[in-house]
Amino acid sequence: MPQLYVNLDHVATVRQARGTPYPSVVEAALVAEATGRIHGITLHLREDRRHVHDDDMREVGRRIELPFNFEMSVAEEIVLVCLEVGPAQATLVPEKREELTTEGGLDLDRGGDRVREVTARLKDAGTLVSLFIDPDADAIRRSLDLGATHIELHTGRYADATNDAERLRELDALREGARLAHEIGLVVNAGHGLTHENVGPVAAIPNMEDLNIGHAIVARAILLGLPSALAEMRTAMGC
Ligand code: PXP
Repeated sequence: MPQLYVNLDHVATVRQARGTPYPSVVEAALVAEATGRIHGITLHLREDRRHVHDDDMREVGRRIELPFNFEMSVAEEIVLVCLEVGPAQATLVPEKREELTTEGGLDLDRGGDRVREVTARLKDAGTLVSLFIDPDADAIRRSLDLGATHIELHTGRYADATNDAERLRELDALREGARLAHEIGLVVNAGHGLTHENVGPVAAIPNMEDLNIGHAIVARAILLGLPSALAEMRTAMGC
């Protein structure tokens, strides 16, 4: 069974909606950690700082004991914050200003050289590097070639599928991607758009290491509280 990394970006979204100091991302991370139900915390420091801010990254990095997964683009100013924080893992993602959330996997053909350089610098600093990619054989092989130790398979197309046939096709692509990645020596994570209702089949894919789940957990936490939302997700993952 995969491990659960909770993404708490949208705790900061609520804070930024009113410009208040609360709710605190750090407090949410500590509450999540204290439940004993998660294996790591993920936060995405976006270039536009629309939710999480640099000080959230610094403080969460300092205060949590669980592994911290620092999600980021390859923009130099963000790379420098990551090097300062020194998280256990960094997940490199594409970023566009106008998007609501990360829309697709990295384009490793066009952006490969920069990804290779950033990957090497982060690994030299002791941070594991995961590349967020679509479940595509070329992208998986290229991730290894660029020096990544991990990949995160984009589950967005699976989550957005509008009928069973499409959902099964996307699930097959994820399963095949995980198989190939594991076979060539990459650690396989996945995430995006997962909810307690759709996570089960993804959690059951062999060789799946970590699932990064954010929006759906924070949304459920508004209704149930964060500990109950995490418990519900773990049950849905079958662990
Ligand atoms: N993984 C990556 C790389 C992401 O960009 C996101 C969204 O920030 C997630 C996982 C989590 O997605 P969601 O918030 O839909 O669970």
